[in-house]
Amino acid sequence: MKKNILIISGSPRRNGNSEMLADEFASGASSAGHQVEKVVLAGKKLGFCTACYACRGGSCPQQDDAPAIIQKMLQADVLVLATPVYFFTMCAQLKALIDRSVMVYPQIKNKDFYYLMTMAETDESMFKGTIEALRGFAACCENSRECGIIAVPGVYEAGSINGNPALEKARIMGANIK
Ligand SMILES: Cc1cc2nc3c(=O)[nH]c(=O)nc-3n(C[C@H](O)[C@H](O)[C@H](O)COP(=O)(O)O)c2cc1C
Repeated sequence: MKKNILIISGSPRRNGNSEMLADEFASGASSAGHQVEKVVLAGKKLGFCTACYACRGGSCPQQDDAPAIIQKMLQADVLVLATPVYFFTMCAQLKALIDRSVMVYPQIKNKDFYYLMTMAETDESMFKGTIEALRGFAACCENSRECGIIAVPGVYEAGSINGNPALEKARIMGANIK
């Protein structure tokens, strides 16, 4: 069945390691006939949730890019969250977007989640905080399903993931979405 796949690339660094994983995932998913959209948070206007709770009345008063991205999240069947590890967790751009979903997260239901991440350290146990933080968001979304994780250690400079077998793994993961 053709699925609506939304890939959110959180890194502020364009064409970096996590975005390259996201691109391979997208290429695999497109080749399998799915509808794929990648949203790059770099360059987007994305304010922090101020906990004003005006959204209880219907909408967030901030005039920025978050509401449109969150609408796409609501419509997607599959959410792919790509992030660099920043101080043991996801990057601030992705976290800011997730926080802004406080207005609608109870409606983000029945999604398949995939996580793509990269870090400079080579000790894979250091992915723990990032994985748990992403899982925390999915845990707040009703009937979410964790379908795959690709976590690539030892990549620091942009493009150092080139030639890493994880890129092919990401393409295959995207292609295998049912
Ligand atoms: C602000 C900042 C914090 C970082 N924190 C970590 C970290 O905690 N652990 C780590 O291994 N790498 C850390 N890194 C390195 C990035 O995770 C690594 O370069 C990653 O591959 C970047 O992905 P990108 O190219 O998609 O932006 C940090 C980099 C920056 C800029």
